[in-house]
Amino acid sequence: FCLSPNSVNCLLLFHLFVHRVVKSFAGNCSLTLRFTVGLTGTKLGCAEGGCGACTVMVSRSSPSPPPPRHFAVNACLAPLCSLHHSAVTTVEGIGSVASKLHPVQERIARAHGSQCGFCTPGIVMSMYALLRNNPQPSLLDIEEAFQGEVLRSYQSKTFVCSPCWWQKETYMESGWPCTCSEACTKREYVEYFLLYNPSEFMPLDPTQEIIFPIELKKPLKQLCFQGERVLWIQPSSLTELLDFKTQYPEARLVVGNTEVGIEMKFKNLLYPVILAPAFIPELNTVQRTADGILFGAACTLTRLGMVLRDAVQELPTYQTEVFRAVLEQLRWFAGQQVRNVAAIGGNIVTASPISDLNPVFLAAGCKLTLASKGGKRVIEMDDSFFPGYRKTVLKPDEILLFIEIPFTKKGQYFSAFKQSQRREDDIATVTCAMNVAFEENTNSVRNLRLSYGGMAPTTVLAKETCKRLTGRKWSDELLQDACSLLAKEMTLDPSAPGGMVTYRRTLTISLFFKFYLIVQHKLAQDLNVEVRYVRPDYASAAELFHSVFPCSTQLFQEVPPGQNKDDVVGRPIMHLSALKQATGEAVYCDDIPCYDNELHLALVTSTKAHAFIENIDTKEAMCVPGVVAFLTAKDIPGSNRTGPAVYDETVLAEDMVTCVGHIIAAIVADTQAHAQRAAKAVKITYKELKPVVTIQEAISCKSFYQPTRKIEQGNIEEGFKKADHILEGEMHIGGQEHFYLETNCTLAVPRGEDGEMEMFVSTQSTSKTQMLVAKALGVPANRIVCRVKRMGGGFGGKECRSTILSTVVAVAAQKLKKPVRCMLDRDEDMLVTGGRHPFLGRYKVGFMKTGRIVSLEVTYYSNAGNSADLSLALFHMENCYNIPHIRGMGYMCKTNLPSNTAFRGFGGPQGMMVAESWMGDVALHCGLPVEQVRRLNMYKQGDRTPFTQRLEQFTIDRCWEECLSISQYNQRRKAIEQFNRQHRWKKRGIAVIPTKFGITLTSNLYSIQAGALVHVYIDGSVLLTHGGTEMGQGLHTKMVQVASKVLGIPCSKIHISETSTSTVPNTSPTAASASSDLNGMAIYDACQTLNQRLQPYKTKNPKGTWEDWVKAAYFDRVNLSANGFYKTPDMGYDFETNEGKPFNYFSYGVACSEVEVDCLTGDHKNLHTSIVMDVGNSLNPAIDIGQVEGAFMQGVGLFTLEELLYSPEGVLLTRGPGMYKIPAFGDIPTELNVSLLRDAPNEKAIFSSKAVGEPPLFLAASVFYAIKDAITAARAESGLRGPFRLDSPATPERIRNACEDSFTKLVRMTPLFIVALCFFIFSHKSSFTLWLDFHWIRICCVLGSRTQ
Ligand SMILES: Cc1cc2nc3c(=O)[nH]c(=O)nc-3n(C[C@H](O)[C@H](O)[C@H](O)COP(=O)(O)OP(=O)(O)OC[C@H]3O[C@@H](n4cnc5c(N)ncnc54)[C@H](O)[C@@H]3O)c2cc1C
Ligand code: FES
Repeated sequence: FCLSPNSVNCLLLFHLFVHRVVKSFAGNCSLTLRFTVGLTGTKLGCAEGGCGACTVMVSRSSPSPPPPRHFAVNACLAPLCSLHHSAVTTVEGIGSVASKLHPVQERIARAHGSQCGFCTPGIVMSMYALLRNNPQPSLLDIEEAFQGEVLRSYQSKTFVCSPCWWQKETYMESGWPCTCSEACTKREYVEYFLLYNPSEFMPLDPTQEIIFPIELKKPLKQLCFQGERVLWIQPSSLTELLDFKTQYPEARLVVGNTEVGIEMKFKNLLYPVILAPAFIPELNTVQRTADGILFGAACTLTRLGMVLRDAVQELPTYQTEVFRAVLEQLRWFAGQQVRNVAAIGGNIVTASPISDLNPVFLAAGCKLTLASKGGKRVIEMDDSFFPGYRKTVLKPDEILLFIEIPFTKKGQYFSAFKQSQRREDDIATVTCAMNVAFEENTNSVRNLRLSYGGMAPTTVLAKETCKRLTGRKWSDELLQDACSLLAKEMTLDPSAPGGMVTYRRTLTISLFFKFYLIVQHKLAQDLNVEVRYVRPDYASAAELFHSVFPCSTQLFQEVPPGQNKDDVVGRPIMHLSALKQATGEAVYCDDIPCYDNELHLALVTSTKAHAFIENIDTKEAMCVPGVVAFLTAKDIPGSNRTGPAVYDETVLAEDMVTCVGHIIAAIVADTQAHAQRAAKAVKITYKELKPVVTIQEAISCKSFYQPTRKIEQGNIEEGFKKADHILEGEMHIGGQEHFYLETNCTLAVPRGEDGEMEMFVSTQSTSKTQMLVAKALGVPANRIVCRVKRMGGGFGGKECRSTILSTVVAVAAQKLKKPVRCMLDRDEDMLVTGGRHPFLGRYKVGFMKTGRIVSLEVTYYSNAGNSADLSLALFHMENCYNIPHIRGMGYMCKTNLPSNTAFRGFGGPQGMMVAESWMGDVALHCGLPVEQVRRLNMYKQGDRTPFTQRLEQFTIDRCWEECLSISQYNQRRKAIEQFNRQHRWKKRGIAVIPTKFGITLTSNLYSIQAGALVHVYIDGSVLLTHGGTEMGQGLHTKMVQVASKVLGIPCSKIHISETSTSTVPNTSPTAASASSDLNGMAIYDACQTLNQRLQPYKTKNPKGTWEDWVKAAYFDRVNLSANGFYKTPDMGYDFETNEGKPFNYFSYGVACSEVEVDCLTGDHKNLHTSIVMDVGNSLNPAIDIGQVEGAFMQGVGLFTLEELLYSPEGVLLTRGPGMYKIPAFGDIPTELNVSLLRDAPNEKAIFSSKAVGEPPLFLAASVFYAIKDAITAARAESGLRGPFRLDSPATPERIRNACEDSFTKLVRMTPLFIVALCFFIFSHKSSFTLWLDFHWIRICCVLGSRTQ
């Protein structure tokens, strides 16, 4: 394999936990080991370092001397070749259910820290790597360790927020009791918390820790590996490196691969030669000089941080201003897994305009040493270092050798700021560094350097502003001039990539204002000159974000005294797969071992939103090695028509495409990499048609699916006549990507006879998959078996959209007569499948002076996409409020986006969100507290909804009162008012929001049924099957609890293996929160049948055991297998007559949230949330609390963070965790309390329980409306009162723009300005060049994407 004549060693040697691995190939990532070594515990969630699912621990003793360093890395970005002489520990390496669990695994599982489990191995490994290096982690250490992990399904925060759990004494012994501070959350557990018992946790067994293998300590030599397309060279000395760089000037230097890896995977770039300098001593230098600290360019960011932290401890404060700014930037730089491998040099030379370190290095004037074979040169870093977008002045044969970060001097102050969509692990919107030096003992500016990232194609210096301010006194006059100068100098073309033009420009000024205050404060302290003190209410504007000790409580009702100890219903038992999930032993679809003759499939998708397909050229694609077949619609033997309810879609496009991502064809090859490469090489030409992308576009061309829905009660015209006031308003709620950690995956295995096919699928709909696959293959459904073991999350996204991929894979498997597998990459999954429907709500509300609402007219428009799929919000339009005269209209917009689909809450959250918007408007208009207006309008027991359903067992009043009490609402409100009086630039807000959520599948009556099959074997063990699928929500655990109670046997005797169409036919999708209700009742039915059959043997032998009765029945030839069935009675609703019963019952809940908004940046902190949720008599409080917290956090994402952006051409721009931000650990409210309402049995569902999956999601609206409350306080400072519009999500951009003040006025792009700009461009269009046309498109693009 070795091609290089210089090669002295061509074997790659590393240890994969206990296996010695010697490999001789290059260019692959370590995840390829999932199959070659069979360790599938490490999961792939994104392949771009953004989710943490693939975290493993790497240990190595070079370049630093022994002892070996252990660190967490993202396996998806770690090239296999970079692992030479390393030990890699995957989750399997630290413990297993089969042998012995590691305490980290055990604690996370037993503390209910694992739900769908797909991300759990990554979380386990992050914590494990932290503890290997640091047996006494602080809260900060733990928070840092989790920065690289996203939060999609629930992970109980308790295990994060208790450092004492992980400190050596407790961790090594029993984990309980601890001796930590008052603030420790465990104190609260003592009082309230019975979800688990920490005293039962295993202590650490030190022999379990893997010892670093001696052979890996050998010195490294030069290495060369040749892969299929890449030559990887690891030089052993600087001279060798410089020689190679001369020989291969185009070669890339790769240290962390966190840039190059992304470019190769997602930008389709190929670098045929890679030089890996990570082990060259000079490049790892750290040395103090007279002027600062010199770092080798290959020093990792973690090392940079460690060295600077030490220096800050040792040196006088005035010397370390730049160091502290670097540390502040590193705090929010990627996740720890990235920082552990990414190098300083990589960040500088990538020359990204949004690099976090380059503004600091530029403002500090760092010195760079560049080296080539011809010698070295030292340059000072200024903006001439970046001659263009992602360009530096380095010559092709040069490398960056050192960077020297300078000390600061007395009278010099330095700060750095970064603003991004999400605080943790996100790229910057604007990032900057500011450096000012004063004349000795004065406040006269001697030198000022302001550098900004995110404001131009390169990091830039605000030279003009700095020049004009030099020599001036640091005073309010300087501030005013600085703001005006920056507003003029830091301009952005309205078409600037990334959009957010007004916001970014405002940030440049707002951040300078923060710097101004910081310096003002320092000057006041340091210099003996007259400097005006900072106004007390301004002081907090300059404060950096502080972590606060988090705490949480979970309250639930214990089972009644005297409940049989074997009766587990109502007890907080652990998710049955939690331990396996924490050890990586839980098997997901793609973990199924490869068949010998297995093939891989990749999709060919449309790049146009609306077009005819003119030609498909596969010449280049078919030349890619390993390609076996190219499939189009013509290869479908049965019907190409598909769809969840109506067949209005194609499996593979025929002549026309109707969205970007429309599946046109598929490539099948020997490996996934080959299939994907070939798919990218397929060339398609189109004849484009005008797409309809936004709701506004659909409204203007009346592009709607039928039928349009209406629900009406009373007489709205009469109502409006009676009203004292009438208000009109509008709100847009953005869509949401499901972002299940496990992307869509299917393995289809043809059985070789009679058209039989076995399908292993990650789907919520086994039967739908079976029927649609059979339809496409042209075989009866009885030939297709669809099997689901578990999913790594679904959230509705795998209810309908998964079926198309499964069908394509089945078609390929049938045609080629071989097993075919496809697991979508994250970007493909986001592109191809739709998500939650964006909504536009328009309302007119009539109300009395008291705040009583008398009449409401509301119209909803949802963006349904290119097929009707499942589109629906009217049932939740009034949320919990009794409006006497109401009319709701619902339009489903037909657009050229991938079909939107079911998503937890399914239209309900959007419907209720608009309701809370008009409720807030009414309160603001009347000048009344919004909580009072909410309460005034709230339903009462026995009231009827607009769809005439009577509200029985109505518990909202109780939830409301309990929530006000546990959140200490009144005290909080007072404290907030006081805080807001004392802080001009930070404002706090609070909101209490109720929810009423109807349970069951309203759309299709036939879906409200379930089946179960229960086998009892002769040894007494029970195999349970039902129609629901396990996606982490704990359904199987609850179902085992139900069976255990009905049969009267322990859970340990009952097993659920999978969901399969061969055991329970015609199942309903696992959706609409109703699966426990439906399947639980079906299981109850089956178990009752078995009980009846066994009763004679129990009567005959009352002292016998379960096994005795089973054996006796068997010998008596009694059928020990029973099926069960259930359909919810009396259901059905008719929109035409507004009669019937759409819901079986309602779930209720109330949440109170408090937030703090930084009015200058739009950033916000979630300070507090208390939730009271009515889940009936909980089947399993641990799982239900997990669902409440998980749904709430997903709602926090929906309403404050997650923003899907499309171009005007319908191209999804946000296709992975890099661009699309879902909540991370830091987004969990600092204080989070969940209480399950006591004594609220629900007679409509199994064992008086209630559904829980969807209802709590909307409670996250309390965070959104708390933000709106804080913005209201900020606007009041500028004299702005009354209702204002805030669309969802409340991103930093929207928050900042809504907090209008003198800074926003300086940069605001008025509508007049936009109109004038458009007019100017149109009137000069003919005389403009192509350049302008291009920019015109971009202007529309930016404006369009922001208003969608
Ligand atoms: C998930 C994720 C999050 C991220 N978050 C941030 C963030 O918050 N802020 C931020 O600024 N960046 C971020 N990045 C970008 C990236 O991590 C940094 O730019 C990092 O410092 C790159 O270092 P590396 O060693 O991984 O570079 P590599 O990918 O190994 O190399 C990058 C480039 O630098 C060149 N290069 C490297 N060393 C030298 C040298 N000594 N001489 C000459 N050329 C050299 C290489 O040839 C290559 O072109 C993120 C990346 C990822 C994947
Ligand atoms: S798969 Fe590696 S970080 Fe997401």
